[in-house]
Amino acid sequence: MLNPKVIIASSKHLTNHFQHSHACFRHFILGLETLVASSNGRNVTKLRKPLDVRQTGEEAEKLRADLHKRIVGQDEPIQQIVNLYQTYLAGMASPSRPVGSFLFLGPTGTGKTRLVEAMAESLVGDARAMIKVDCAEFQHSHEIAKLVGSPPGYLGHRETHPLLSQEVLDQYHTEKVKLSFVLFDEVEKASDALWNLLLGVLDKATLTLGDTRRVDFTQTMIFMTSNLGAAEMSSILRPRLGFTPGDKEREQLAGTLDGDTADKISRAGVEAARRRFTPEFMNRLDKVLVFRPLGEPELRKILNLELNLLQQRIFSSSTPTPFFFALTAPAKEFLLREGTDLKYGARHLRRAMERELVNPLSNLIASGQVRGGDLVSVDFDSSANSLLFFKEAENVPEHAVFKLWDLAGSDGGKNHSIAAEAELMQAAVPFLELEHRALSASERS
Ligand SMILES: Nc1ncnc2c1ncn2[C@@H]1O[C@H](COP(=O)(O)OP(=O)(O)O)[C@@H](O)[C@H]1O
Ligand SMILES: [Mg+2]
Repeated sequence: MLNPKVIIASSKHLTNHFQHSHACFRHFILGLETLVASSNGRNVTKLRKPLDVRQTGEEAEKLRADLHKRIVGQDEPIQQIVNLYQTYLAGMASPSRPVGSFLFLGPTGTGKTRLVEAMAESLVGDARAMIKVDCAEFQHSHEIAKLVGSPPGYLGHRETHPLLSQEVLDQYHTEKVKLSFVLFDEVEKASDALWNLLLGVLDKATLTLGDTRRVDFTQTMIFMTSNLGAAEMSSILRPRLGFTPGDKEREQLAGTLDGDTADKISRAGVEAARRRFTPEFMNRLDKVLVFRPLGEPELRKILNLELNLLQQRIFSSSTPTPFFFALTAPAKEFLLREGTDLKYGARHLRRAMERELVNPLSNLIASGQVRGGDLVSVDFDSSANSLLFFKEAENVPEHAVFKLWDLAGSDGGKNHSIAAEAELMQAAVPFLELEHRALSASERS
């Protein structure tokens, strides 16, 4: 048996020898073939099989699918993150740097933080499995101590548990996935001390704590978010000062923005970041990703997603009364109208949902009007410009409620959702009654 080291040494020798000539490169291959062939007794098969570099592995595909289930639009950022994850899985990432470092730019409420949560959810099964550093909260040097701890002897040394210790970093590791996610939110607000810390971590993947322990960041993905460029982006959409939307803004809201304008928006983001951040910082990043402003079609999908999440929350342990709700189409249109605002992206939508839907539902639960096993429909009252709530049925067995939800397509609600299917629910009530009667009859007998 030939020692692999010998093969490598010989191949190095051969490459050195023949490096500059194509003809000789063939010689090198032939030489290597002979070596390998004689080393393991198997014959080398000569091939010239084309390979598809666009194919991704199963795990990266799963991540991609999971992210698309939770994030509406933002295809480019998702693609780039999946690419980098694939590089990591293949063992091709640089061993002395963090697994990945990303700067997320773009207007507020477009999914920057949500994407990091979705990643943690997909890879380690918990959206909260990340360490979040709000850069605005670490402006002064004593606040940095919250991150790295203070040196021994300093007041409070024993009480501080640094936020960025190795234990904290590794706390969400699973048997299968040894990855940590650290998010630096609003990174443009970081103080100089925090910048220095960040630069060190990006460059060498280590951080020295106050008590000189070292924290290893080589199994960490680092995300930084910033709203920089948001003003420039919106001025592309609304070129003249004032409150009337520009043509581009109308196109954007309608989701028909042309590729040129979309590119302009991306460039505006990156340029704003280049003006604000040092080249030293920008050069250490793996990717700068610009999140697009969301238009009406995206907000519509996000509304469905959020309504499904709300239903999931009601079914999960957080409420002792799992009931089922559904919205009519006009009720959904109302929430969309209330929640559409270019400036705050989906944040505004979430606020509208809280105000118009979640709070009233909570009142109904608290006052005992809605109980477990109820079917609640939500309609729109145009004269009062608000939502109306009806109880359509009660004592519905749990399995029937889940079946109904299944029927309506709880696939993340991207394409259609129970939320538009109050009609479906109303249609189902007589059948649920029949089923209920049949069940109790069989219990009696
Ligand atoms: N592209 C998106 N897809 C799905 N939900 C989104 C998207 N953008 C925003 N949201 C919703 O709005 C909320 C706020 O978005 P977030 O990611 O925190 O915004 P930011 O870009 O300011 O970090 C999220 O929790 C999520 O519910
Ligand atoms: Mg955010």
